[in-house]
Amino acid sequence: MKKILVIGALGQIGSELAAAFNERYGKENIIVADVADDKNKLFPGNIFEKIDVTDSDSIEAAIKRHGIDTIVNLAAILSATGEKNPALAWKINIDGLLNVIHSGIKYKLDRIMVPSSIAVFGPQSVLYNTPQDTVLVPNTMYGVTKVVGEMLGDYYFKKTGLDFRGIRYPGVISNKTMPGGGTTDYAVEIFYEAVKNKKYTCFLSAESCLPMIYMPDCIRATIMLLEADRSKLRHCGNYNVGAMSFTPEILADEIKKHIPEFTIDYRPDFRREIARYWPASVDDSAARAEWGWQPEWDLPHTVADMLGTIGSRNL
Ligand code: NAD
Ligand code: SER
Repeated sequence: MKKILVIGALGQIGSELAAAFNERYGKENIIVADVADDKNKLFPGNIFEKIDVTDSDSIEAAIKRHGIDTIVNLAAILSATGEKNPALAWKINIDGLLNVIHSGIKYKLDRIMVPSSIAVFGPQSVLYNTPQDTVLVPNTMYGVTKVVGEMLGDYYFKKTGLDFRGIRYPGVISNKTMPGGGTTDYAVEIFYEAVKNKKYTCFLSAESCLPMIYMPDCIRATIMLLEADRSKLRHCGNYNVGAMSFTPEILADEIKKHIPEFTIDYRPDFRREIARYWPASVDDSAARAEWGWQPEWDLPHTVADMLGTIGSRNL
């Protein structure tokens, strides 16, 4: 793992993960890439490649140009956008993923990492402490692409030895780059609205309980799995990782401890139906046993940190 290509580096996770890679591995070893331009100059010190995952030539050209041996592919269409445009979700999440996998095999890459999601679960899955190895019949196109993505990773690992790794991220809470088109986005938006307007209208219902993770834990988990000894891993791209679980109502109560005048009301839309069949919590014992996962951020500390960081900005 000497030269890492991060595709989808300008998104919610990529913008912070690639920055953490810079710190850990040196920015001369991190090539950042996205289909979008880096208009906000997020990575002034890195080589930036314009890559569309659906165009395999653009991936292969970057691998050859920079001697890439590791790809972290974060390019994806998320759940809410995917329901509006299922064909596009399939194209980017599956056709794009296959391009990354085939390039990985062709150029004998050391490893590739592609996130999965709690969206792999569906109405037939257990709601609480959802096991890692269980029935996966999601009812969103995003979830379908994540299940297929996990299966492709597993298949090519067994057939070709391609070292494919991935975490089923819970909803990710962060304060650097806004989330893009997901069902868990409310758990980020609420902080900005709390600081700016002291009120928030939530698109999920009060009791929609979902697993969530704060960005520092998300980054730490990703690096832990990326660096883990392959011989200790019994899974490929489907690790459950838990950190905290809460409903919009519980989150709002926690925010009120810092902003007593904060109010929340509810106008559930189609995203409520997506969230309905996602787990409330996950069993992450495989991640704990195989690569030492242990969350550090709980809800009270996350809320205090989010409000402190966002509150210190001139919104
Ligand atoms: P995001 O939407 O914020 O970022 C995705 C990035 O990919 C964007 O910068 C976008 O410009 C880029 N992109 C889109 N199409 C592309 C293409 N054709 N070629 C190259 N780049 C393209 O997403 P994110 O939240 O950072 O998610 C990253 C990964 O983590 C995804 O696989 C997602 O499914 C997964 N995930 C995210 C969450 C979450 O809460 N953020 C939760 C579970 C799983
Ligand atoms: N946060 C993502 C979404 O809501 C879950 O994968 O789509």
